[in-house]
Formats: sequence, structure tokens, C-alpha cells
Amino acid sequence: MTQVIRHSEALREKVAGWKRSGMLVGVVPTMGALHDGHLSLVHAARAQSDRVIVTVFVNPMQFNNTTDLQKYPRDEATDLALLEAAGVDVLFAPDVTEVYPDGFATTVSVSGVSASMEGAFRPGHFDGVATVVAKLLGMTQAGRAFFGEKDWQQLQVVRRMVRDLNLPVRIIGCPTVREENGLAMSSRNQHLTGPQRDIAPVLHRILVQTAQRLRRGEDVHTALAEARAEILSHGFHDLDYLDLRTADDLQPLDTLQGAARLLVAVGLGQVRLIDNIAVDA
Ligand code: PAJ
Repeated sequence: MTQVIRHSEALREKVAGWKRSGMLVGVVPTMGALHDGHLSLVHAARAQSDRVIVTVFVNPMQFNNTTDLQKYPRDEATDLALLEAAGVDVLFAPDVTEVYPDGFATTVSVSGVSASMEGAFRPGHFDGVATVVAKLLGMTQAGRAFFGEKDWQQLQVVRRMVRDLNLPVRIIGCPTVREENGLAMSSRNQHLTGPQRDIAPVLHRILVQTAQRLRRGEDVHTALAEARAEILSHGFHDLDYLDLRTADDLQPLDTLQGAARLLVAVGLGQVRLIDNIAVDA
């Protein structure tokens, strides 16, 4: 049985009991509307921890506009059924006032890795992410926390924060889960129309092709410029970035060297898609 807990005090007692018995606690932070991408993190957590907490909290602090926050899909009953089936011990689903009570005044801000890409196009987004993740780690007291590579920049921000603040948790990154056609799974894909669902997978195909060209030694600027034009030719709009970056600290790369990542954010209809893949030299 998955127990639903809404208050951090009750969660702390539960976790304290587990820890007294010497159990390793894993947490999977989410905003709900769970899909197979989230569930892959749950499976990793189950395999690598004795007890698993999944947090579901649509964090207002990380949204840049209220429409996006309001239309974010929410379906706790379905989420709970999926977590039951996956053998999760606790669903922690706090209210906004539990996470941000009156007088809340602290922001965790990670400079450097937060600055570009998502950080540039969604000002304040990573402050919201870092603050809520720090709180969720504090509230759950988990020894391991599982994050998806789907949100590569977020994963680097969380890793940096945990190192910088000496938080006693190990961050585990898990591979991106895709539809058979290559589209990275995302709760926001629910808002794609039928025709847009046929276009969306093209994004991953272009990433893969561009990665191959870069590995063959093609000029980075030329390959990226051609890939940008190709993305837009398929009906995507508002290409915020298609960048080649170092994998860990996300520095821009003019030539392929070491562990690199190709990252993209682009609009399709009402949805903003983000994706990334590894491009090792
Ligand atoms: P959310 O978008 O719900 O994602 C929760 C976790 O699932 C993140 O670590 C994300 O990278 C991972 N994830 C999403 N889609 C995935 C996919 N297709 N394959 C693998 N992993 C995937 O990311 C957030 O929520 C929030 O920012 C959060 C960290 C919970 C803080 O509010």
C-alpha cells in the first residue's frame, strides 16, 4: 500500500522510523501527471533503496507564467494508482501552504549552470527548482534522490547545489525515456494535437543526426545552424536554443571535445518541448 502523506511533520516521523531500522530512503521528486519517464525513476529508486518516497508538488515558484501553472496537468488519483502498482511506500503530496507557509523568505540560487538556456529563457525558473528541491530533500531526509536526464540542465543545477551545500544525499541521474518514435516523454505532451504529435518526434531525429555529424568532425557552427533551420522548417516555432555544451558545467563549445551535450528548447503549438542527447567526441 502506498501511504499518502501531506504534512512534513508526519513524513519526518515515518522516515525517522525507517532510518532507525537502518533503511536507505530514496526519493523521486515530481510534479505529477506521471508517465513512464517518471516511473523509470521510481524503478531505479526501488532497485537502489529500501524505501521509496515519490513527491508530487506542482511548484508555483518555478513557473514563469500563471497560464502555464494553471494548465499544468493534475490527476492525483491516477498518479496514486500508478505508484501503488510500482510499489512506492509513500506519496508525499503537500499543499502550497505546507511548502511555502506565510513568511517564507528563502531562495536557493545556483549561479553558473543556471544562467544560460532554460535559465535565460525562463528567468527565476531554476531558483524555484533549487529552492523546492532543497526543501524536498530536507523534508524527506532521503539518502538518494533520482532525477531524469530529460531535464539535463536541471540535473546539473541540482548536483551543483548538493555539492555546494554539503547536502547528505546522493543524486542519481536516469536516462531519458522516449516514445517509440523518439519523442521524449513529458507531462506537457498531453497538450499536443494529433498533427503536432506527428511532427514532435522529428526533434529527436534531428538531434541524433546532428550528433552524428558532430562526431564525424563537421564544423560545430555549420552543423548547428543547419539543424536550427531544419527544425524550423518542420513547423516548430520559437527555437529558444540549440546548443552544444560541456556536459557538466554547460559551457558553450565551438569544437567537439570531451563529454558534450546537445540541448534544445522549441515551441510546437501550445507546448514548449525540451530535449538533449550526449555527443561524446
Ligand atoms: P517533473 O517534470 O514532474 O519531472 C520529475 C522528474 O522526472 C525529473 O527528474 C525529470 O527529469 C524526470 N523526467 C521527466 N520526463 C522524463 C523522461 N521522459 N525520462 C526520464 N526522466 C524524466 O522536473 C520536475 O518535475 C521539477 O522541476 C522538480 C524536480 C520535481 C522540482 O519541482
